[in-house]
Amino acid sequence: EKGGYEHFMLKEIYEQPHAIKDTFRGRLRADQGLIRMAGIDQNLERFLNANRIIIVACGTSWHAGLVAEYIFEDLARIPVEVEYASEFRYRNPVISDKDVLIAISQSGETADTLAAIKLAKERGAFVFGVCNVVGSSIARETHAGAYTHAGPEIGVASTKAFTTQITVLTLMALKLAKASGTLSESRLHEMLSELEGIPAKVEKALESNALIEIISDVYKDSTNCLYLGRGYNFPVALEGALKLKEISYIHAEGYPAAEMKHGPIALIDEQMPVIVIATRRGHYEKVVSNIQEIKSRKGKIIAIVTEGDEQVRDLADHVIEVPESSESLSPLLTTIPLQLLSYHIAVMRGCNVDQPRNLAKSVTVE
Ligand code: F6R
Repeated sequence: EKGGYEHFMLKEIYEQPHAIKDTFRGRLRADQGLIRMAGIDQNLERFLNANRIIIVACGTSWHAGLVAEYIFEDLARIPVEVEYASEFRYRNPVISDKDVLIAISQSGETADTLAAIKLAKERGAFVFGVCNVVGSSIARETHAGAYTHAGPEIGVASTKAFTTQITVLTLMALKLAKASGTLSESRLHEMLSELEGIPAKVEKALESNALIEIISDVYKDSTNCLYLGRGYNFPVALEGALKLKEISYIHAEGYPAAEMKHGPIALIDEQMPVIVIATRRGHYEKVVSNIQEIKSRKGKIIAIVTEGDEQVRDLADHVIEVPESSESLSPLLTTIPLQLLSYHIAVMRGCNVDQPRNLAKSVTVE
């Protein structure tokens, strides 16, 4: 059932090119500049007239929501707020029938997310679900939705659910951008065909596996780890840190790279591995100067870079390449090496990768 892989997590990491294709299937017609999503078509006015979109989720799904904030605001120019479902539901939120709430959940059973949906519905908001499990409670409780079609995710650490959530949310943002005219036809066509090419690029990113195994061996005994990214890759840094802590039990934190100087830089010494996402498009020069700051404090740098990068290669202790992409699609690629890194480190530490201690696949209690 693990299809020859040692763990479900690794199988699911490797399934991502396929899973992302399954998310597109029947929806994306890049040659015609078309995206078919019935749940959006039937409720287009609700989205286009929305004061704002509020995204609620927990854990990894919340990180997908943060990526979506960048995508929706950047491409569709709709204001977005992203909230932990558990905080949203208990703080008497200001929400009305002019708002759209998007709930993201792999399992579709997360208690806090479900409760946030019920609250938003009571206050008249239109509620859209992005779920993986068909027929789940959240899928049934929402007014409309779009499934991720990632297939069953067995490993407790979420991998393919995350990248397919980002894929669905990107399709939604592009569809809304097309309907509202916030993206030119030519840019839209470009984005759609780039999106269609993402599974092949994910495949390419997976080819770094052997290198990542070598790097993992160097850092497997670390007690702390810092993840940095900017823009679209800030949420990816958070997700990388969550993956590491939940399966390897190494304390890890994700930060927007520029926040480092406001505190976390104090932690950096020769013992501290810092994983920096430094892809070419998106604040590259600024991230390079963050890397210089880490280096001058003797931190160990593992950088995720764009294929062919030379500048960061000269500074970093290790570089892991991902294929070139636009900034808005880069999270689908930069996430891959971070998943593999946490996987290998956890295996080397003898951890139960598929069923980490104290964690459940779906959190049906608050
Ligand atoms: C992390 C992880 C959890 C879930 C969270 C939300 O790898 O699996 O953080 O992402 O419990 O679960 P869903 O998406 O099912 O609502």
